[in-house]
Amino acid sequence: MDMRTRMRHNRTGTQTAPAKAASMLAPPCDDRCAFATDNRGELADTPLRKTYCSDAGRLGSVPLAARRNGASSSRGRRPHLLMDKLGERLAFERTGVRLYDALLIKCKAAGSALQHSEISMLRYFRDQEAQHFELLASALEELGGDSTAQTPGGDLVGVEGAGLVQAMNDPRASLAQSLHVMFDAELIDNASWELLIHLTRSAGHAAIAERFEAALRQEAAHLRTLKDLVTRLTLSDA
Ligand SMILES: [Fe+2]
Repeated sequence: MDMRTRMRHNRTGTQTAPAKAASMLAPPCDDRCAFATDNRGELADTPLRKTYCSDAGRLGSVPLAARRNGASSSRGRRPHLLMDKLGERLAFERTGVRLYDALLIKCKAAGSALQHSEISMLRYFRDQEAQHFELLASALEELGGDSTAQTPGGDLVGVEGAGLVQAMNDPRASLAQSLHVMFDAELIDNASWELLIHLTRSAGHAAIAERFEAALRQEAAHLRTLKDLVTRLTLSDA
């Protein structure tokens, strides 16, 4: 299976039809043009979009923390924010496992592009993402939350991650391109764990924050490895 990027005839650019491109870009660009803005720099459909935003309400809600089986309910200044962000990381780690599963299939399809030890390392990272999912679920339960409930942040990153999952599962995406998708996911993961640790400490849950810091150290290793692999395979792809 040849997974390299090739140069072939591509008709998506305007250079394939310069005369039509000129008429498309010619002024005046009226309100039929998707990027036309008025003298305040606003798009033609801004009023309509603003109406949607004001009418739409919110992306769900955070479930009330329950006191059961001796669980301590979340405390701190804004406990609902911490619960929301815990639900958010939980949803993203789930997506992370699915992304690694799909990436490992790409590795098999690409034959010997990666060394056996590198594929084993990716499988190890996949298992760590699954452990992070469990870690977050237990932290949510410890704080009196319901790890099966979808929080607004969980809803949001579920939709965000759908694009990553779609790109990763595109059978035409090369191994280098698939590693690039995984690298993007790890960038989000690292930044988001940092914020979650900050929120957890601010809420007074030092022991949980310490467990999260161990997860962040693993995520940092994922990021470094993915960056090296993306660089190497992209250069060899070229
Ligand atoms: Fe990761």
